[in-house]
Amino acid sequence: MSSLKHILITGGAGFIGSHLVRHFVTKYPQYQIINLDALTYAGNLESLADVDGRDNYTFIKGDIRDENLVRAVFAEHHITHVIHAAAESHVDRSILDPLSFVKTNVLGTVNLLQVAKARWQEDYSDHVFYQISTDEVFGALGDTGHFTEQTAYDPRSPYSASKASADHFVRAWCHTYGFPALVSNCSNNYGPYQFPEKLIPLMIRNIIAEKPLPVYGQGQNVRDWLYVLDHVTAIDVVFHKGKVGETYNIGGNHELRNLDLVHMLCDQMDNALGRTSGTSRNLITFVKDRAGHDFRYAIDASKIHREFGWSPSTSFAQGLQKTITWYLENQSWVDHVISGEYQTYYQAQYATR
Ligand code: NAD
Ligand code: TYD
Repeated sequence: MSSLKHILITGGAGFIGSHLVRHFVTKYPQYQIINLDALTYAGNLESLADVDGRDNYTFIKGDIRDENLVRAVFAEHHITHVIHAAAESHVDRSILDPLSFVKTNVLGTVNLLQVAKARWQEDYSDHVFYQISTDEVFGALGDTGHFTEQTAYDPRSPYSASKASADHFVRAWCHTYGFPALVSNCSNNYGPYQFPEKLIPLMIRNIIAEKPLPVYGQGQNVRDWLYVLDHVTAIDVVFHKGKVGETYNIGGNHELRNLDLVHMLCDQMDNALGRTSGTSRNLITFVKDRAGHDFRYAIDASKIHREFGWSPSTSFAQGLQKTITWYLENQSWVDHVISGEYQTYYQAQYATR
């Protein structure tokens, strides 16, 4: 790969995207990083205040579905590479409003593919389109087993169906047009700057406010947790070393039942807030289960370890402590992102459970 890279990162104002942008802007001053983000409820430029104004960084507010805009961005910024992270990303919202997931995750991805193909078709040798995907496309596991790169897609929520569809289009571009694409499928991320609709930041916020902690069903569902900065280093490795046409699984190798995770959060938060032990556990409220709730996700990340030596460097205990500390110290970030639309969503999602 040449060192002259003009990298379009989509969704760079979101949770994972903001860490990705910060990592690439600061680690690779020789690359130009162009962040295209529509700034939906989930996108927030406050998450990137520290890189704003850097010479190698440009932010563009815009929608990945807007063909003219995307074409202009490719032309004006001489885009050579894409890391595509923009998406509607929350399963519960996908159950309430599936069509917006089809529009952004499927149509938005195909639009990017179309424009990239048109722009790069003279020569694909120094271009890469990297699709950031999820382990949820593989469906749900029982008590045993892991998702490998060979596991057949079996999405079961509107969110995962839209991501699976997008991944299929990316691979179709590879097979049909010889398009230079990579895909990685990652397990549940957590860490600073995650929108407080997802399990960990939602629980942290409610514990601080001493509000009920809504655990779906009996809290027995299992997720495999990865600290967000470990995902970013994995993306860096796959971006630089991955073979086009290939797919890579990324995971934390740290499975937890939701209830066990919420208990850990309660205990660490009681400690951090100087509350009597057990205070926050009393806030746990079992609520109506998520429709079609996938039981268990678990990633086999041996390929990326074997081929590139990547493995997570942050233990779950360290990552959770860092995350709690960050949310306690950055409550104004939370207050800003949850104003407006989020209140309406919270009512719709939790008021009737
Ligand atoms: P997020 O919801 O925090 O951020 C998504 C970003 O995309 C936001 O900044 C939003 O403004 C932007 N966006 C949404 N629609 C857009 C559109 N039409 N045009 C331009 N920008 C738009 O999501 P996240 O958790 O950071 O996830 C990022 C990517 O990683 C997604 O593709 C997701 O499927 C994938 N992923 C997430 C996880 C996880 O645990 N969060 C795990 C594996 C994979
Ligand atoms: P979430 O963070 O939404 O991620 P995903 O559904 O993509 O895995 O949810 C993680 C787990 O936590 C999932 O099994 C659903 C559960 N959950 C709750 O029990 N209560 C909640 O309020 C939320 C948001 C999630």
